[in-house]
Amino acid sequence: MSDFALSSAALPDSLDAFWMPFTANRQFKADPRLFVAAKGMHYTTHDGRQVLDGTAGLWCVNAGHGREQIAAAVHQQMMTLDFGPTFQMGHPGPFIVAERLTEILPGDLNRVFFANSGSEAVDSALKIALAYHRVRGEGTRTRLIGRERSYHGVGFGGISVGGIPAVRKFFGSLLTGVDHLPHTLDLANSAFSQGQPERGANLADYLEQIVALHDASNIAAVIVEPVAGSTGVLVPPVGYLQKLRAICDKYGILLIFDEVITGFGRLGTGFAADYFGVIPDMITVAKGITNGTIPMGAVFVRQGIYDAFMQGPENAIELFHGYTYSGHPVACAAALATLDIYQQEGLFERAASLAGSWQDALHSLRGLPSVIDIRNLGLVAGIELEPIPGQPGVRAFDCFRRCYEQGLLIRVTGDIIVLSPPLIIEKQHIDQIVDRLTQVLKQIS
Ligand SMILES: Cc1ncc(COP(=O)(O)O)c(C=O)c1O
Repeated sequence: MSDFALSSAALPDSLDAFWMPFTANRQFKADPRLFVAAKGMHYTTHDGRQVLDGTAGLWCVNAGHGREQIAAAVHQQMMTLDFGPTFQMGHPGPFIVAERLTEILPGDLNRVFFANSGSEAVDSALKIALAYHRVRGEGTRTRLIGRERSYHGVGFGGISVGGIPAVRKFFGSLLTGVDHLPHTLDLANSAFSQGQPERGANLADYLEQIVALHDASNIAAVIVEPVAGSTGVLVPPVGYLQKLRAICDKYGILLIFDEVITGFGRLGTGFAADYFGVIPDMITVAKGITNGTIPMGAVFVRQGIYDAFMQGPENAIELFHGYTYSGHPVACAAALATLDIYQQEGLFERAASLAGSWQDALHSLRGLPSVIDIRNLGLVAGIELEPIPGQPGVRAFDCFRRCYEQGLLIRVTGDIIVLSPPLIIEKQHIDQIVDRLTQVLKQIS
């Protein structure tokens, strides 16, 4: 057993040295919450309690925890080929995984560039977009369009096109030449929509204004999360993504879907592109590609984009971009075993079959104190709470802490509760989530 596993019965000697990401470090270290083990739908805490995982870790453990098939594949890979370079050399893993992915990718997206995280996947996609236009002789297309309230990771590209103020404001001028579409949340007209809101497709027309301002000849790409997750679950209005696609087509602008959370079954289809019937030019993924076990990200690219680079002398490197760990053999082994599980257990279909009862169960929380909106799609939900005046985020964090103490892991962002359970969830777990939330929402108000 590893040292980490052996230490599972107690807290580490000191919590000082680890600077925790996206965490209130002092608050956490004064009252820590540590997981030491996980199996199926549950985590085990350092004080020996079971906590129901309502968030698939961080939107990544789609096939549930402790999958032996993945562990065995990773172990075997490490003992066979622990590392192999993919710069001017190769090993079988990424070729096999990429080929396998093409079987489930939508449309003519059939080329795969590997990274190690969602952030890297996003920055890779943005760079591919810029370079694509340049290799085609349209090098003036450099502007990138994101959207308010979007989250695209923490690289400089991702935070530049991203739209969450706290993620951007500490880090200077960011990339130049970036515009943002308006976000699609409309509490006044669309609160408590079940699934996609009916109103709001016209918000995509704002792209026309950006084109009018800058001219299409200067615009490289639009990037959106099909369903915005980290900002608190913003479901696109009916027809919105179709409109974005049409406007991008009209002006030769690339459309990138950031599917780091919607990819691999979250909406009950392989990808959100399948769910909405809108095929983007690129898709970024991470998280669920390895069931969260080993870091891996990827960009899926339409063949035409890849082909545009395959010009010029054959001895020339076509894209000066990549990571030491692009297509890491161990990550590839994890990805392959994960894809097997998704297929063997029909987990995407399972998510689709549970989406209705998930929706009904979550919307039963309507009417509880402080709840001002409930949003859902597939196996995702957001529950927005009325903030305590002058104390944004405090009510939801209180809810988060109480849920944890009472055996349920949720995520909160501002005053929004976000749920995204593993796709292996059973009806009884959905009931437990709703019961626990009902209790806690009554306690905090
Ligand atoms: C839509 C989206 N893009 C990018 C990222 C960044 O992924 P990572 O944290 O793996 O860099 C996330 C993470 O939550 C995400 O939700």
